[in-house]
Amino acid sequence: MLRSKATFSIEKPRKYCAREYSPTGAIVVKFIWMHINTKLLGETMTNPVLEATKNRRSVTRFETTSIEERKVQAILEAGRWAPSWLNKQPWKFTVVTNPSIKESLSKFAPTVYKLGVQEAPVCIVVSVDPNEDPFHFIEDGAAATQNMALAAHALGLGSCWIGVFNLEGERESTEEKIRNTLEIPKTHRVISLLPIGIPKYIKEKNRKELSQLVYQNKFGKPK
Ligand SMILES: Cc1cc2nc3c(=O)[nH]c(=O)nc-3n(C[C@H](O)[C@H](O)[C@H](O)COP(=O)(O)O)c2cc1C
Repeated sequence: MLRSKATFSIEKPRKYCAREYSPTGAIVVKFIWMHINTKLLGETMTNPVLEATKNRRSVTRFETTSIEERKVQAILEAGRWAPSWLNKQPWKFTVVTNPSIKESLSKFAPTVYKLGVQEAPVCIVVSVDPNEDPFHFIEDGAAATQNMALAAHALGLGSCWIGVFNLEGERESTEEKIRNTLEIPKTHRVISLLPIGIPKYIKEKNRKELSQLVYQNKFGKPK
């Protein structure tokens, strides 16, 4: 097994410059020393972030057991730190824990996902305000959703990104129903539902090979 050959390399800490805004709007510059611990598995580099990007799976059934509030906070923090166009952060995260509201949401979920939304103790609904970022509001909401999905995984929880879209012939759109249920203003777009909880089971998934996806310099030229 490759795993038994793992060697750890603890790189020298690197100095990062972090800029933050104080409540008065002044820029505060902080220097942070960070260790990036990487592990070599044969030729492959890995570390906890890289492992999370690979090992996270979409979880469709959950235990109904509640999850710790500090974990929910940590997941929301991960969403808050997602990148966005011009750092506009046009998102709002509505944390739904009320069983009857979750049941309503589950009925709108246009896929086979209904049970998962009801079972999960928490469902985060990501919405964005296109007035704050008219150009990339979808990508912004998507980045926040994925950050939170990865954070949930890193904390030993499961989640499933549920896209919000409309089935043909629907009178009232799924998005409209979600907005009405959660009293999200009409000016906002609903990007995703993210039920989070302890997984009942996890399905294996695979991916296309890098050789099918990656080109060098020009599209179509194999790397
Ligand atoms: C934009 C988007 C929308 C998705 N919508 C749904 C959905 O409505 N229902 C569902 O069960 N999974 C949904 N998924 C999860 C995908 O089915 C899942 O990511 C894919 O099958 C790969 O599986 P994995 O996430 O376990 O690797 C969505 C994922 C994305 C990125």
